[in-house]
Amino acid sequence: MKILSIETSCDETAAAVVEDGRKVLSSVIASQVEEHKLYGGVVPEIASRRHAEAIVPVFKTALADANLTMEDIDAIAVTHAPGLIGALLVGVNFAKGLSLSGGKPLIPTHHLRSHIASNYISHTELKPPFMCLVVSGGHSHIVMVYDYTKMKVIGKTRDDAAGEAFDKAARTMGMSYPGGIEMDRVAELGNEKAFEFPRPTVKDAPYDFSFSGLKTSVINLIHNIKQKGGEIPKEDICASFRFAVVDLLVSNFIKAAKDYNVNRLVVAGGVSANSLLRKRLDEEAQKNGFTFYKPDMSVCTDNAAMVGSQGYYEYLSGNIADLSLNAVATLPIDYR
Ligand code: KG4
Ligand code: ZN
Repeated sequence: MKILSIETSCDETAAAVVEDGRKVLSSVIASQVEEHKLYGGVVPEIASRRHAEAIVPVFKTALADANLTMEDIDAIAVTHAPGLIGALLVGVNFAKGLSLSGGKPLIPTHHLRSHIASNYISHTELKPPFMCLVVSGGHSHIVMVYDYTKMKVIGKTRDDAAGEAFDKAARTMGMSYPGGIEMDRVAELGNEKAFEFPRPTVKDAPYDFSFSGLKTSVINLIHNIKQKGGEIPKEDICASFRFAVVDLLVSNFIKAAKDYNVNRLVVAGGVSANSLLRKRLDEEAQKNGFTFYKPDMSVCTDNAAMVGSQGYYEYLSGNIADLSLNAVATLPIDYR
């Protein structure tokens, strides 16, 4: 089964063709990041306008790269939640048009479920059940994935997402959006023990995260150094901050895995590109006898191939929308 998939939840306009959930026949991404950099973050209205401009060429290129026409496509999958509402609406309406004109089934696909599915592309042997750490710009979840479309949130952030914490800390040091990537690069040059940042825990919720205290602490440190007219030791701050965020993510995740007695662990979402997180999870998995899967770097951040993969399993589970499908800004990952 060949699925044409569309992703417009944030600042990448993407389309792909994926066969049977696993084989990527094409994947096209038009990033708007250079424009949002000017403002230090995503400007929702600009994102919607750029999606409206890019969606047709991106869709055409995805079909052409796969050497296919719409006649060869069996269904349309689209990210309908969660994300920026005006951005999601562009993709949802475009997908509805394709579904209506071609008489093809329309598959609503949850963005975070798609991030998990990026691992089905990178590891064709991977099947649920497993436990997944989903870490993106907007979400930080520990999810028990019982089946492709049956999951339960075990832990989540009470405030900022991990990616958001990276981006905000990086912005305070004058690094360009999205700061997580730049911070990861600069951290390699610094000493991770130079600064001691707090490791907040959430009372009576051992798998939940809280990053806002950590974020405030790094912002205060930078402001204090600036006020005294000092030079910001960017390398050491990046290394120490990355060390603290990764430590929080890894310790809760490994604790949850042990408590739930699972032996297969997966990481997903934009922050899964973080080099220290990948390394630490590899080490912890080896130490504790877990099998650990991480997505290839090419599918860590937003793309439509992962939507085509998850869309296939949504289709098999009977999750098919009618043409009244709407975009939804917030929707739990275990919504159905
Ligand atoms: O999944 P994603 O592409 O978009 C959302 O669904 O949010 O994730 C984007 C987030 C941004 O916060 C970005 O800074 C972060 O992923 N990110 C990273 C790295 N690469 C991307 N954070 C830390 N280290 C990285 N290497
Ligand atoms: Zn994402």
